[in-house]
Amino acid sequence: MSTEEPAQQDRGESTAAPEGAAAADSGAAERSTGSEVILDAVEVVAGYVPEVNVLTGCSLELGEGELVGVIGPNGAGKSTLIKAMFGLVPVRGGSVRFRGADITGAQTHTLVQHGLGYVPQRDNVFPALTVEENLRMGTFLKPREFERRFAWVTELFSRLAERRKQRAGSLSGGERQMLAMGRTLMAEPEVLFLDEPSAGLSPANQDQVFGQVQRINDTGVSIVMVEQNARRCLQICDRGYVLDQGRNAYSGAGHDLLHDPKVIEYYLGTLATVD
Ligand SMILES: Nc1ncnc2c1ncn2[C@@H]1O[C@H](COP(=O)(O)OP(=O)(O)OP(=O)(O)O)[C@@H](O)[C@H]1O
Ligand SMILES: [Mg+2]
Repeated sequence: MSTEEPAQQDRGESTAAPEGAAAADSGAAERSTGSEVILDAVEVVAGYVPEVNVLTGCSLELGEGELVGVIGPNGAGKSTLIKAMFGLVPVRGGSVRFRGADITGAQTHTLVQHGLGYVPQRDNVFPALTVEENLRMGTFLKPREFERRFAWVTELFSRLAERRKQRAGSLSGGERQMLAMGRTLMAEPEVLFLDEPSAGLSPANQDQVFGQVQRINDTGVSIVMVEQNARRCLQICDRGYVLDQGRNAYSGAGHDLLHDPKVIEYYLGTLATVD
């Protein structure tokens, strides 16, 4: 795994909320890469239970080729935000756009066809199926693409080629995570949503996964990554969003958030070292 941060250009100051942890931030952290916005969520209101909103006006912008991190306390709405953008939670207010087109409330299978991919945190492989069968599920919309995409995915994750005929249920935690990401990448997404890819892994496997996420991003896939491992997430992402109680609390360049005293105090822990 690479522990280096990706090259960054001209990072701006973080857009920090002035008055405590959950003070609202506009979510409009200035992107420093100058790339086109590929995906943006504006003031999204969403929830599971009627009349109970989990997100109460959440915004996020993803530039082409960016790696954006989303951190925040348990229950802040991080998973809900990516589910709302991926059509898995009803959006009750605000909007989501992909390449300028309104995709608010679009169905998940339509979003996959348009180039969005999502790797859930849990239950993200079919344990009774082999590695190859899992990867085939990723090309179910375009089965003829299997060989070409299999070659691409196994170039990134050579272990999946070695384990091709093995049942997914017998893989290690790190290998399963590789398979989960690999299966989603089989569909050739332009945008990848990752929900806590390092969860439940050993420190060594976490390092490996963060390295793999960077490699996927280096191939040009734009990524929104939710992470509990906030410091590692901010170290590798171009920009980060801190969510709290269903709203944007802070946003800015990953490196700036890592050094922001309020973010350290409320979200990273006062003992966090900021290297
Ligand atoms: N399927 C569901 N039905 C009802 N409420 C839900 C559901 N999923 C999540 N919630 C609630 O929505 C809120 C936000 O949950 P969410 O999973 O988005 O948080 P999170 O920031 O991803 O937290 P964590 O760090 O624990 O993964 C929580 O109060 C949670 O209980
Ligand atoms: Mg979550």
